[in-house]
Amino acid sequence: MTVAPSTEPSGAPTLRDDALLQVRDLKKHFPITQGILFQKQVGAVQAVDGVTFDVAERETLGLVGESGCGKSTAGRTITKLIEPTSGSIVFDGKEISGYSRSQMQALRNDIQIIFQDPYSSLNPRHPIGTIVGAPFRITDSSLTDKEIKSKVQSLLERVGLNPEHYNRYPHEFSGGQRQRIGVARAVALRPKLIVCDEPVSALDVSIQAQVVNLLEDLQEEFGIAYIFVAHDLSVVRHISDRVAVMYLGKIMELADRDTLYSKPLHPYTHALLSAVPIPDPDNQNRRERILLTGDLPSPINPPSGCVFHTRCFKAQERCKLEVPAFREVAPGHAIACHFPEERKPFDPNAEGRVIRSTMSAEEQDQQLPVDAHPDLVQQAHQDDRSQFR
Ligand SMILES: Nc1ncnc2c1ncn2[C@@H]1O[C@H](COP(=O)(O)OP(=O)(O)O)[C@@H](O)[C@H]1O
Ligand code: SF4
Ligand SMILES: [Mg+2]
Repeated sequence: MTVAPSTEPSGAPTLRDDALLQVRDLKKHFPITQGILFQKQVGAVQAVDGVTFDVAERETLGLVGESGCGKSTAGRTITKLIEPTSGSIVFDGKEISGYSRSQMQALRNDIQIIFQDPYSSLNPRHPIGTIVGAPFRITDSSLTDKEIKSKVQSLLERVGLNPEHYNRYPHEFSGGQRQRIGVARAVALRPKLIVCDEPVSALDVSIQAQVVNLLEDLQEEFGIAYIFVAHDLSVVRHISDRVAVMYLGKIMELADRDTLYSKPLHPYTHALLSAVPIPDPDNQNRRERILLTGDLPSPINPPSGCVFHTRCFKAQERCKLEVPAFREVAPGHAIACHFPEERKPFDPNAEGRVIRSTMSAEEQDQQLPVDAHPDLVQQAHQDDRSQFR
């Protein structure tokens, strides 16, 4: 079934005025400069390019997409670890996009972040009692060491760690335990929002489920909202109330979890879902596969029109010329596509049909690969972690 395009030129999706977090047309472009004495900007990495969404209290919004599509940059911009290029971030009724570092410090009780690699985000020279106790020490100077110790120990117990291990160092814990320490530190001050940036991607599958369950329990108990970043659609499906699918700095589709997984409309979502393995081998072989050919194009020079057109199996001439508006097609279901279509993600009658991009191999080769600046990215992420150590 093809969905009729909206007549709205740029009809934004319905947004809730009472949401805890309201992000509007947020952009983060990293400047590329040249020159030694006089640095001149010669371009920009358009890592996040106009994203709009809300997160309600106690809600989990999943943010998915291929590596390099801007998920971490979006998370770091929302938490103001990096400054946005433009756009609005309203948290708890306050416009924080222009907040200084010290103004943000006062908000650190309310907004926290959990990183993918718990080891590099925990200071290896401090015992975990000091790491998890730091937020208490910083925010309430009247607390005695004994009081802090007791708070930390009950927190360690709450996240499933032995409170007697208070004096142990991060290297003495397994990956899963270290992520529990990261979770304990993040929830210490009962934040209203936590950005979880691939918190389980580095963990074994069996451990992933335990950490996800822990996050869910803490959400229930403390009323926390999460932005849960992942490239694994199965994990996101488990934890999210709503899901936003990102591609090359933009949101392609946003819907409640059940709608997104059962009635996706965007060709990129179709492709991602068609790659998710299903347990039944018979159906696995019979369903449709949509192959994403070519690399993710460079965010320095994104494709014209719809940024997905170079890899989209439905692309037409219009897609190269006209940027599709991010618009609502049903209550709470927004997409950015000129030709949205309902497609069953697990249609066993598809008989193993394989669908590829309509673009020629030469055209795809003209697209530069992503991650032009891996060193910069590494450094930037390192700097962020140091703020939370
Ligand atoms: N500090 C930075 N300087 C320049 N480019 C960056 C920086 N941080 C991220 N990028 C680029 O922005 C794009 C999005 O990166 P990222 O947000 O880390 O993606 P994801 O988390 O989805 O894998 C990538 O092309 C990456 O190379
Ligand atoms: S606008 Fe065109 S290229 Fe973009 S996702 Fe839709 S059909 Fe594909
Ligand atoms: Mg990332």
